[in-house]
Amino acid sequence: MPTKQQGADVPRGVFVAFEGGDGAGKSTQANTLADELTSAGFEVVRTREPGGTPAAEAIRAVVLTPDYAGLDPRAEALLFAAARSEHVSRLIAPALARGAIVICDRYVDSSIAYQGVARGLGVDVVTEINMWATGGLLPDLTVLLDVDANAGLERATDPNRLEDEPESFHAAVVEAFRQLAAAQPDRYLVISAAQSRTAIADVVLEHVRGLLAARSVL
Ligand SMILES: Nc1ncnc2c1ncn2[C@@H]1O[C@H](COP(=O)(O)OP(=O)(O)O)[C@@H](O)[C@H]1O
Ligand SMILES: [Mg+2]
Repeated sequence: MPTKQQGADVPRGVFVAFEGGDGAGKSTQANTLADELTSAGFEVVRTREPGGTPAAEAIRAVVLTPDYAGLDPRAEALLFAAARSEHVSRLIAPALARGAIVICDRYVDSSIAYQGVARGLGVDVVTEINMWATGGLLPDLTVLLDVDANAGLERATDPNRLEDEPESFHAAVVEAFRQLAAAQPDRYLVISAAQSRTAIADVVLEHVRGLLAARSVL
């Protein structure tokens, strides 16, 4: 059997995802990192989930609006996965293929933590639908901004349907993120989100610079 051409479908860019509960500081840190790397001359694609393309943003509006309180959990999991599939195929994968740095606010781990663990659908099934949806694309680095649920919710600025869940739901999300990071320490950078914005940004930038240097793109 002929071997597949080496690297034919292997992303060449760098994919960084920010994870954590609402109010952890994901959007703040994603913006800061994107600004730093853009200033340093890199092509940066700063995006978010659910969303990132017009269709995925339309799914975001459905899945996050408080109008659909009580949305069926499986429908919720599938809508997030559907948005992600569109996002990966139309925005993230093409950006990585041309060598860009993709900085994404939330990714698959959010689905595992929220739908798999906190909603109780199961880690395995949520992982499986997301691996199918994304073709198995995972970030090179996932930055987990670790903050206790209450502290995060006090900081959170955009109200959404999931934010309205009880405290036990958010505590389960925080714990799920910690376990995901502990299970794959090579792929995660866990930072206490209780630190200042600049202290966090410095640690993230240093780590990403190390990743870029290791890839010989710096
Ligand atoms: N390290 C930090 N310390 C204190 N407040 C922060 C920190 N990072 C972000 N914030 C503030 O907390 C709020 C939520 O931050 P945001 O980046 O929107 O979180 P997320 O995207 O994770 O929900 C914003 O008002 C932001 O300015
Ligand atoms: Mg945000």
